Amino acid sequence: MASELNIHICIDVLDSAEELTQQERDAMSLAQAAANDAYAPYSNFLVGAALVLEDGTLFKGSNQENAAYPSGLCAERTALFAMSAHHPNKKIMLIAVTARRRSEQHFLPAMPCGACRQVMAEYEHKQGESIPVLLQGPEGKFYRLRSVSDLLPFQFNREHL
Ligand code: THU
Repeated sequence: MASELNIHICIDVLDSAEELTQQERDAMSLAQAAANDAYAPYSNFLVGAALVLEDGTLFKGSNQENAAYPSGLCAERTALFAMSAHHPNKKIMLIAVTARRRSEQHFLPAMPCGACRQVMAEYEHKQGESIPVLLQGPEGKFYRLRSVSDLLPFQFNREHL
C-alpha cells in the first residue's frame, strides 16, 4: 500500500502595502523602482527584484534581455548573482519581486520562474537560514512566504549530490 507525502505551504495574503512591515515596504518600493529600469525591449515585461541583507543593505535587480533571447536573465537572478558577487558572505533577510507591463502603470502578480526559484533555494541553503519572499500579488495585494522552500518544495539541493 503506497503512502502519501503531503507538503504544506503557507502564504500570508496582505491586502495592501499598509499591512507590510517598514522593511518589506522599502524592499517592495525598491523592486518597483528596479522594474522601471528593466532592460526588456523584447517582452516589454518589466520585472524588479530587491534584496535586504543582514546589515540592512538593499540590493536591486531587473530583467536584462538580449537579442539572442536565451542569453537574457531574469530580475531575481540578476539581483542575486550581483549581490553574491559584491557581498559573498552576507545573509539575505528578504527577497521582494514585482512586475509590470511597459504600457501600464500598475504592478502585476510576480511569480518567479523555476530557474529563479532554484537559484533562491541555493542561497537559502548556503546561508542555513530561511529567506522570506514577498511577491506582488493581484489587485494591490502582496504574498508573503516564510521561506524559499515554500516556493520550491521537494527541491534539489547540495544534499542530493
Ligand atoms: N522574468 C523575470 O525577470 N523573472 C521571472 O521570474 C519571470 C520572467 C522576465 C524574463 C523576461 O525578460 C521577461 O520576464 C518575460 O519572460
